[in-house]
Amino acid sequence: RPGEPCAFVAFGAMGDLTRRKLLPALYNLQANQLLPRELAFIGVARRALDDAGFRAYAEAAARAGAARPAGAPPAADFTTCVHYVQGDFEDPATYARLSDALAHAAKEHGTSGNALFYLATPPGEFSAIVRGLAGAGLTRQDAGWRRVVVEKPFGRDLDSARALNRELTQALDEGQVFRIDHYLGKETVQNLMVFRFANGMFEPIWNRRYVDHVQITVAEELGVEGRGGYYEQAGLVRDIVQNHMLQLLALVAMEPPSTLAPEAVRNEKVKVLEAIRPMEPEQVLRDCVRGQYGAGIVGGARVPGYREEPGVSPESRTETFAALRLQVENWRWAGVPFYLRSGKRLARRDTQISIQFRRPPLLLFEEAGVEQIDPNRLDILIQPEEAICISMKAKRPGPGIVLEQVKLDFSYAQFGPLPPATGYERLLHDVMIGDAELFHRADLVEASWRIVTPVLDVWASLPARDFPNYEAGAWGPAASAELLARDGRRWAGPG
Ligand code: BG6
Repeated sequence: RPGEPCAFVAFGAMGDLTRRKLLPALYNLQANQLLPRELAFIGVARRALDDAGFRAYAEAAARAGAARPAGAPPAADFTTCVHYVQGDFEDPATYARLSDALAHAAKEHGTSGNALFYLATPPGEFSAIVRGLAGAGLTRQDAGWRRVVVEKPFGRDLDSARALNRELTQALDEGQVFRIDHYLGKETVQNLMVFRFANGMFEPIWNRRYVDHVQITVAEELGVEGRGGYYEQAGLVRDIVQNHMLQLLALVAMEPPSTLAPEAVRNEKVKVLEAIRPMEPEQVLRDCVRGQYGAGIVGGARVPGYREEPGVSPESRTETFAALRLQVENWRWAGVPFYLRSGKRLARRDTQISIQFRRPPLLLFEEAGVEQIDPNRLDILIQPEEAICISMKAKRPGPGIVLEQVKLDFSYAQFGPLPPATGYERLLHDVMIGDAELFHRADLVEASWRIVTPVLDVWASLPARDFPNYEAGAWGPAASAELLARDGRRWAGPG
């Protein structure tokens, strides 16, 4: 069903996110008849521009980023509802103008007073915008719903995340806040719950009795892509682990929710993240690895080291790689390590989850020349390929018993060509229908900061003279492989 009538207000309308993701995603939604007819899109930014100028900009951005299937309604359907409000986010006059634009949208486009405010701005602006909206009475829900979408990074440690949560809840009810994580919009990530809870065969073995360990890899070929200034403040753990990776971990490790109601699912996610105890300093030193890339070759091209990137200090101590060994201390997972690794400028883009099962208890086939049976593995490939496969042993046809590793494969190709998507479509549509399941709740964000903040604190207190410690195009520093080798294991996927 299409989203509910509303005004979609994008703060940071001239920024990267609005141009590359939001406008194309709305366009794709429209092509699939998932946008309400009664829609207004209002851009808010500092640049001096009028409605006509912004309309042309928005249309070009939407066209460039979206792949519209043949037969989709013409672009004009969407762009006639586009408006622009110019102003500074600190200035109350901006919100007075926005209030007029919303009233106009209700009259002109039938938005019923509903409004979705998307904070597509740097995090330093979140508080000012929320204060501005509340000050102008725009967060009150007496004439329709008002929802605020908050982008990452959500704080930079546990204290700042708590402070931001407090500020948001002073102006808004928790139910009005949608903390977005674009990983939760990915098809394979959404499939994780279906895979676990709509099939009867996996749950019985999804625990410490059968699972040896779990690995999660988020590898990127990309460097910091002109975002040196932001990345210097963030680093890999804040950029990827605190949000995307801990969400993947939660989906793999959580207990089955009693229903699919957003609160039921989010309760289970919080519980599992709370079962990961914050690390003591000696544990950080033992179980967490950080790295920073130097110059190297990625995809056949020479690329500069992190410290040579624009906006990055030549002595930067910011990590562009991290590997962590986490323990989920509950009855299901006690003693099963979860190894997480992620990095920029690795050999290739590859995001996957591997569940490695225990070895068979008896090696019957040793006499057939098999030294050691490889354990079964279930790989959930998230990108670039989307697939789920199980590695197992089979007998190679022919005389004698020769074992070979084979794969049982499910590929998304079975569904035929997928509709074009930016990954934001499902999430934006969910906000428009008020479904918060795929969005972070305040306690979920705090639970994940509770896990990573001690790691960041210990790292910040240490000298980091060994950077850079991996070449661009490698699979991170040697210590990443050693982290698993120490436990008699190795990274299952690439590298
Ligand atoms: C973003 C990070 O959240 O995710 C980026 O800020 C990163 O640094 C990106 O490149 C990765 O997203 P995806 O969808 O390409 O895996």
